[in-house]
Amino acid sequence: MIFYRIKQFYWAINSKLNDKDIKFLKSNLNSQELNLFFRLSVNEQKHSINVAYDVEKICKVQDVDSKVILKASLLHDIGKCVKKLTIIDKGLIVIGDKISKGRLRKFCNLKKIYVYYNHGIIGYEILKKYNYNDRILYLIKNHHNNEVKEDSELNILKMCDSRN
Ligand SMILES: [Fe+2]
Ligand SMILES: [Fe+2]
Repeated sequence: MIFYRIKQFYWAINSKLNDKDIKFLKSNLNSQELNLFFRLSVNEQKHSINVAYDVEKICKVQDVDSKVILKASLLHDIGKCVKKLTIIDKGLIVIGDKISKGRLRKFCNLKKIYVYYNHGIIGYEILKKYNYNDRILYLIKNHHNNEVKEDSELNILKMCDSRN
């Protein structure tokens, strides 16, 4: 787990979009979605792209239609665009969450902490205004909800999110 976090930190400080990423984004997002996407910090952009690459691979293997889930993957953390978290903020919150066993959530009056815990719902609220299809909204809203277990697309998204 610690090794994984270090790897994630290393990825985050070295994140940069390449030509392949831009092409991939353009083939899966329309111009309005691209505008939203680029409001994320670069490391969140890279994370979302890596999640989507991973989702695409799994959809191919499992022969699942990937259109909706790919768009949801690219936009799953869009709620984070309301308050950019630096890599250091994120690291501190992840460690604080572990040490406090989730009690850090009580400090939700601090905007960065609020966004960290609630970005699924914030993303849902942002995209709802653009009349998104219910399925995309649902996947984004619930990507950190551990109470929903019987949804195979959501499970693919959650798995790819946690390992990227
Ligand atoms: Fe997330
Ligand atoms: Fe994520």
